[in-house]
Amino acid sequence: MSSEKTNQSWGGRFSEPVDAFVARFTASVDFDKRLYRHDILGSQAHARMLTQAGVLSEAERDAIVAGLDEIRSEIEAGTFEWRVDLEDVHMNIEARLTERLGVVGKKLHTGRSRNDQVATDIRLWLRDEIDAILAELNRLQQGLLQLAEAEADTIMPGFTHLQTAQPVTFGHHLLAWFEMLSRDHERLVDCRKRVNRMPLGSAALAGTTYPIQRQVTCELLGFEAIGGNSLDGVSDRDFAIEFCAAASLAMMHLSRFSEELVLWTSAQFQFIDLPDRFCTGSSIMPQKKNPDVPELVRGKTGRVFGALTGLLTLMKGQPLAYNKDNQEDKEPLFDAADTLRDSLRAFADMVPAIKPRREIMREAARRGFSTATDLADYLVRKGLPFRDCHEIVGHAVKYGVDSGKDLAEMSLDELRRFSDQIGQDVFAVLTLEGSVNARDHIGGTAPAQVRAAVKRGLELLAKR
Ligand code: ARG
Repeated sequence: MSSEKTNQSWGGRFSEPVDAFVARFTASVDFDKRLYRHDILGSQAHARMLTQAGVLSEAERDAIVAGLDEIRSEIEAGTFEWRVDLEDVHMNIEARLTERLGVVGKKLHTGRSRNDQVATDIRLWLRDEIDAILAELNRLQQGLLQLAEAEADTIMPGFTHLQTAQPVTFGHHLLAWFEMLSRDHERLVDCRKRVNRMPLGSAALAGTTYPIQRQVTCELLGFEAIGGNSLDGVSDRDFAIEFCAAASLAMMHLSRFSEELVLWTSAQFQFIDLPDRFCTGSSIMPQKKNPDVPELVRGKTGRVFGALTGLLTLMKGQPLAYNKDNQEDKEPLFDAADTLRDSLRAFADMVPAIKPRREIMREAARRGFSTATDLADYLVRKGLPFRDCHEIVGHAVKYGVDSGKDLAEMSLDELRRFSDQIGQDVFAVLTLEGSVNARDHIGGTAPAQVRAAVKRGLELLAKR
């Protein structure tokens, strides 16, 4: 009788086989087969639980667990035959189990549905993925701290509006990225808590009539908690959306980081060098060395934002409980996770290899009147109101632009034309070192503060 069925898993009520194109159109195996390890883990836990619940015998459980182990080996050896007519990863593995074990294989799905199975698989998969992403994030942050420590005294121009604003230390600039990534880390850790809740046991939508013991599967699979409602359990994908939101923010940060690296490697800035192994050449222009890695990461950011928008739209307005729409959750989620992980990996490899060109950075900071605010602050300390100081320094800068001199290059007489409050001590203030050292408070750019921040950063990483 089973040979006449139109489909091995649900053919019972069908009188004609599914249309060949529809079969391909509705199948997900081409992309969800990457869930195989987690699908097998979930099934093994389910089988073990069924034995404790008295539904499967110990012999049946052992056969199922061993059979699934062997199927995993077949998949990893590349000998497993994935069949589109079996729709998805779940039915492919179950069909193979039945092929190997006969009737015992058919018992695995007792008290379970693909609806809670797939929800469980994605969460198990995403949990591992988050852990791998956190490890790359950690490695990148480690690299940033190292470089920041080494460059605590290196002076570069800080920018607002991409115009030279005030001198900062390169170490301080690097630590700005460290801060952003720390928040990304926090967000992913927090998101992981909500990923780590177990839908298994929700069955198709309403729960199951078997005496399942959800705390057993929960413990076996290392979930932190059992989902409290079966309808929600099979249909909720907000954990995936949340991940994509956290991933989008992390990619947004990496895109800003990328943009600066692209600018800084340009002939116009020349602030840093990237080793050749992170760059490529041009097929027509022999002189070119392009910062491909940061450019590509900047570009890939769009994919992750797309995944977030796609998943939000996928879930909008869906009635309870599971709908086939949900099969569309996987590709964007996989792509977002892969993209973030690869981008972080590339950055973690690249950042320690960044070679700052200290003299050029310093020269850029020296030009552009970056210590103008310092001169104004100096005059405030001499007793003038800040607004007047601003005006005075504005005149001095105008004079500097016309005469081609930076503030520190003017003589005392020249400077005193703008205010007789200016004395010989002004030159200490107008130096780049004087400027950065003066910003000596938590979060400021002074080298001493950079070193303190690196220390705090290392402590933070050690606590993870
Ligand atoms: N391939 C499906 C998915 O990814 C598995 C669940 C299918 N459930 C169903 N009742 N058709 O969502």
